[in-house]
Amino acid sequence: MAGKIADGKLAGRGRLSFEWAHSRMAIVEKIRAKNERSQPLSGLRLGFCLHITKETSVLAMAAKSLGADVAICSANPLSAQDDIAAFLHEKGIGVYAWRGETKAEYQQCIKRVLAFRPAIVTDDGGDLHAAAHKARTKSILGGTEETTSGVKRLAALEKAGRLMYPIIAVNNARTKYLFDNRHGTGQSTLDGILRATDVFLPGKRVVVCGYGWVGKGVAARARGMGAIVTVTEVEPVRALEAKMDGFEVMMLSDAAPSGDIFVTCTGQTGVIRKEHFAKMKDGAMLANAGHFDVEIDAGYLRGTSRPVQVRPHVERFSINGKKLFLLSKGRVVNLVAAEGHPPEVMALSFANQLLSILHVAKNYSKMEPIVHGVPEKIDNDVARYALDAMGVRIDAVTKAQKHYQDSS
Ligand SMILES: NC(=O)c1ccc[n+]([C@@H]2O[C@H](COP(=O)([O-])OP(=O)(O)OC[C@H]3O[C@@H](n4cnc5c(N)ncnc54)[C@H](O)[C@@H]3O)[C@@H](O)[C@H]2O)c1
Repeated sequence: MAGKIADGKLAGRGRLSFEWAHSRMAIVEKIRAKNERSQPLSGLRLGFCLHITKETSVLAMAAKSLGADVAICSANPLSAQDDIAAFLHEKGIGVYAWRGETKAEYQQCIKRVLAFRPAIVTDDGGDLHAAAHKARTKSILGGTEETTSGVKRLAALEKAGRLMYPIIAVNNARTKYLFDNRHGTGQSTLDGILRATDVFLPGKRVVVCGYGWVGKGVAARARGMGAIVTVTEVEPVRALEAKMDGFEVMMLSDAAPSGDIFVTCTGQTGVIRKEHFAKMKDGAMLANAGHFDVEIDAGYLRGTSRPVQVRPHVERFSINGKKLFLLSKGRVVNLVAAEGHPPEVMALSFANQLLSILHVAKNYSKMEPIVHGVPEKIDNDVARYALDAMGVRIDAVTKAQKHYQDSS
């Protein structure tokens, strides 16, 4: 299989990481094993634009073992793990990804996946879907989307009447956002900040911008590690929720002077800007957990001060005589400075992905070209598989309870 990776010699290390993740993603393995005999993806080409991590290798290998031909590029220029890319390449998957792609190379890799003429496209962030629409790629029968920011872009395409094929919004499954966005990003964002900076969290003031699923997870984990957490929001219900969850809630301009660490979790652009940097104290750290690198105005920092790389993933800027530290260039800190979410939580997301891909493969001709939710059965099955894998048994509704709830 054609491809472009950093170094094929890393494949052995990648295989060990794949095995490590595979052993902790029992749900994906269960779905794979259940479908192996019928080979439901036989003859289908899948195009993936996903962060190339050990967990993604488990999804890609599962799809391949169900009969698919797979080509993959990275969902972020800085997130690919080169050992995993080498392992997948060795296994016959078309990998176009390496860590440290330029913006132009990143786009080029997406084009290479489209040139593979995929029938089903699985994206994280919507860049592959956007490129497919721009190129009007004919081969695509349907697709899936992994994250909030991608789903928003696709909803806009649908609203404009321009969506070319049906897409399942995997992000919107309860077994995705309640666990991946919240607990997965919560843990891995803190992991990324700690690996990058080695900062001591107890007593530090962490400012979390955005109290959606990602923000809730980051705020909870930061508080759990002893930080004093302030939340900023633009949506009143979510602000109220944060307040009643016991966090300080205020405007970012009021939080700016006292924050030690700022974490953006909004999916919006220009959240932390010039006027906020101006108020920050010496030594403040800035990290982003949102999908795109648009939440912290890194362009202003670069245009105002020459960056000094003080550690891998930490750049120092001098703004108004104060030092500000930008982590992972303002890109997703959990994937750039750490390894993304751990396998146990990605098992839920990728079980949804795999079942959604199987659903599209079977039903695409009956699906309208709109953004679809994950079928409820898939969502519930994933939760059941996950409980099974953890050895948790739950009660069933009794006949009397069924009668009681159904009666008026
Ligand atoms: N890093 C990761 O691994 C990871 C995982 C999942 C999702 N994401 C990404 O994280 C981002 C957030 O995802 P989510 O699922 O939490 O979305 P969400 O829509 O549930 O939450 C976003 C929140 O940010 C708030 N917000 C918007 N603009 C704001 C502003 N200027 N200031 C303060 N708050 C603001 C919104 O009101 C909303 O409550 C998206 O870009 C998503 O794609 C990243």
